[in-house]
Amino acid sequence: MTNTFTGKVALITGAASGIGLACAQRFVDEGAAVVGLDLKNSGAWQQMEKSAQQAHLLICDVTDEAAQQQAMVEAVKSYGRLDILVTAAGIAEAGPVHMVEQDVWDRVLDINLKGTYLSIKAALPTMMEQGSGSIITVASIEGLMGSEGGSAYNASKGAVVLLTKNVAMDYARKGIRCNCICPGFIDTPLFRNAIDMDFMQDYKKQIKADTKMGRFGRPEEIAGVAYFLASDDASYMTGQSLVADGGYTAGHSHGLVELMGLA
Ligand code: NAI
Repeated sequence: MTNTFTGKVALITGAASGIGLACAQRFVDEGAAVVGLDLKNSGAWQQMEKSAQQAHLLICDVTDEAAQQQAMVEAVKSYGRLDILVTAAGIAEAGPVHMVEQDVWDRVLDINLKGTYLSIKAALPTMMEQGSGSIITVASIEGLMGSEGGSAYNASKGAVVLLTKNVAMDYARKGIRCNCICPGFIDTPLFRNAIDMDFMQDYKKQIKADTKMGRFGRPEEIAGVAYFLASDDASYMTGQSLVADGGYTAGHSHGLVELMGLA
């Protein structure tokens, strides 16, 4: 525990698993009070609630505006303020457009994009009243470039990247910063559910090879980026998308690294 966030209050969506959970754990370790929102609870949270006085998970669907507003009211009632919002709730479903049913399209856009908008909308009044706040959205490298079969997912994440910029512009003079994290391939339940399917094994090898560091990311490595963006070290940053992808988007590999003896 370093206590750099003592006195700060963070609200994190999608907090029961993966990146959201890692952010919650990191912020608790830094001394923040953390309210997590998710559809479900998790063993890690039960543990965290036992050991940290100021950690609570609320069951909440991010697509439900009234539920998000209520969660925000509860968070502010419990801890008096709101300094940090991380919107990590998300799902990964898609396919080529001619095969994507409308209900899948709607679900992905509802959770990934509308959910993000509703979280930000719920947080803004408190942050404006305070005259301060750091909002951190979670998009993806797939929100910055196309990927085969990405369709609904990439569309939702690209929209989150732009929503981040617009929120940054609209609320900068109210003391609120808004930045986005674009992770590459991070070893979480969401990623494993997709990648561990039998027919995905060649794809898994390929993306690992294309990730210049030669490995998938850990959720804590994204939590570190969230920590930076939430901290005063990022006080002059707003409207930006930070990529953390082990070099996946740095450029194309053509085997020269191996020829140069650097692999
Ligand atoms: P995860 O599946 O481990 O965690 C996501 C959490 O969001 C789950 O606990 C889930 O219950 C919750 N959630 C889903 N729908 C919800 C809803 N309607 N209301 C409230 N909570 C809801 O996934 P992971 O990997 O941690 O993903 C977090 C975010 O990071 C997502 O937005 C994902 O798109 C994004 N991301 C993940 C990458 C990866 O490789 N794991 C790469 C790039 C972005």
